[in-house]
Amino acid sequence: TSVPDIRIYEVGPRDGLQNETKFVPTEVKIELIHKLASAGLKNIESASFVSPKWIKQMSDGVHVMTNIKKIPDVNYPVLVPNLKGYDIAKKCNVEEIAIFPAGSEAFSQKNLNCSVKEGLNRFRAVAEQAVKDGLRVRGYVSCVVGCPYEGPISPTAIAKVTEEVLSMGCYEVSLGDTIGVGTAGSVRRLMKEVLQVAKPENLALHFHDTYGQGLSNLLAGLEFGIKTVDSSISGLGGCPYARGASGNLATEDLVYFLYGLGVNTNVDLVKLVEAGRYISNFLAKPTESKVNRALGDR
Ligand code: HMG
Ligand code: MG
Repeated sequence: TSVPDIRIYEVGPRDGLQNETKFVPTEVKIELIHKLASAGLKNIESASFVSPKWIKQMSDGVHVMTNIKKIPDVNYPVLVPNLKGYDIAKKCNVEEIAIFPAGSEAFSQKNLNCSVKEGLNRFRAVAEQAVKDGLRVRGYVSCVVGCPYEGPISPTAIAKVTEEVLSMGCYEVSLGDTIGVGTAGSVRRLMKEVLQVAKPENLALHFHDTYGQGLSNLLAGLEFGIKTVDSSISGLGGCPYARGASGNLATEDLVYFLYGLGVNTNVDLVKLVEAGRYISNFLAKPTESKVNRALGDR
């Protein structure tokens, strides 16, 4: 039987590091990106051009993006919250940006300082400009299962936002379980609703692993034909405006899991584990990846 290819979208340098309070020097961020690329990852979200007043950790995005040694077939997208961030991204010659409206009203206020509707309007302006300029645009929808302030979010509300984000010209919408409260059951209910408005090839899964459900949620999502999965090296990650959110599904765990399904990711797990150890050592904390821990003990 043929097994579909899965596209891995690495978010460690952005989602992974944005939540770290201790500033990670630019050289370390760059070295991490180089290690991830040399492990074979083809999509590495590398920086975010948000307000430095909001996320100080990401304030060196320009230096990161202008100093990484890019490998030709690797995609290095950046997160952009508004036209100001877009102009900066464009000056750095990025080829892909990611916009990130929320599915929940309260989270939108905390994370973007505006309503869902206002956020969608702002992001539409960014996306339309980027498409006009020939860039690829990816859209996140956050809080797709639950919100740290509002609790459960209805799948129909998420489908509505997803439809709108796709209509802005995004090639893909990444469904973000920002606080990792999803289960295989809630993910199934979500997928059924979202697939009314989107094709599986235009969706990605972005699971935080707070309750340890990341891989089972992923399997539930993959059963609907989704082919892009977000993950973060060493399981780093979280959002400062989503209290209690832990890291993303770890890339090492994802690669091991896909290997078991017979999916060839072309990622070198040994090099990936090494990249995970590099950043965990720098942050002086144990890795959140069980696969990394298991292989690290050898
Ligand atoms: P605001 O304070 O309402 O914006 O923030 P403002 O337009 O009033 O600007 C305030 C100041 O910031 C001004 O400076 C602007 O120039 C500056 P001042 O005049 O006071 O000196 N500013 C900027 N500077 C640099 N780059 C910019 C920029 N924009 C404004 N782009 C804003 C609104 C959206 C900017 C703010 O709320 C923000 O930056 N939010 C981003 C928060 C964030 O990054 N969260 C984490 C990422 S989302 C996430 O992790 C979820 C995800 O992983 C998916 C999932 O897990 O579900 C994607
Ligand atoms: Mg996230």
